[in-house]
Amino acid sequence: MADPALARRVLVERRAASRSPLATARLAPWSPLSMEMMAVRERLIASGFARGDRRQVRTMLGSSIQYWPSFAASWNDLPVDIYMADGGRYRRRRFAAFFVAPAVIARKPHRPHFQSRTHNPLNGGIERWFDPVKADIGDNPLIQAMLQMRGNLFSTLSQDGVEPGGWHVEMHQFRICTMVQPRAEPTPEGTHRDGVDWVLVLLTNRRNVQGGKTRIVNTDGELLDEFTLTSAQETVFLNDRRIRHAVTPIWAKDATAPGFRDVLVLTVRLARAAGAAVTEG
Ligand SMILES: [Fe+2]
Repeated sequence: MADPALARRVLVERRAASRSPLATARLAPWSPLSMEMMAVRERLIASGFARGDRRQVRTMLGSSIQYWPSFAASWNDLPVDIYMADGGRYRRRRFAAFFVAPAVIARKPHRPHFQSRTHNPLNGGIERWFDPVKADIGDNPLIQAMLQMRGNLFSTLSQDGVEPGGWHVEMHQFRICTMVQPRAEPTPEGTHRDGVDWVLVLLTNRRNVQGGKTRIVNTDGELLDEFTLTSAQETVFLNDRRIRHAVTPIWAKDATAPGFRDVLVLTVRLARAAGAAVTEG
């Protein structure tokens, strides 16, 4: 850990949190954070959100970045999301759930994705059975590294004074296509929370697309920032309890050619009980 003062503070916070009953179920200590992750952590504390540029994220991913081509190519094989209540068929997706703890990544049995109507007034309130993330992508060293690093990062940012024994992580692969309708909505539900603790959005590809500006809003509705993810691997980290988010519509630069915006979304929340978390959402 590069900053000794910061390292001491993390240690103190972890010791304070270890008095919680959940901490006794901890499987092992989380790993120390890299310099890049410490920088993200500081921005999350200060602002509730943090951006990671392509260089920073590639450094975070280390040698697992060599698996990027097959990982990104898997977005070419996503089934249409048939649950869009606005009737749109411009979104493609796959879904998976994991339990993540120190040195543990366990994929959970396939399950429906559920959001309350409070968090998703358009598509929430029902169980949505999306096709599973393919096994070789769930096992891909790149997503495994990403899951473990996010577990490490968020474990140092415990909320409610509870140190996580493990995290329930949901993985979404999304493609928004411009050929199905002229203006496609990356977030048709509007400005929203995902209803979890932490959210990560990583751009995997963007081709022949205009628009798609990410908007960061606080719980009072005040716009804090807006920016466009343009390079693969650019990432946004969100404290979902403090920040609401949205992405503006996209449309094709060249309307005669396909356009799409691909993202990976990881939503992260405290596992209910570390011992049961491999099967419990
Ligand atoms: Fe969201």
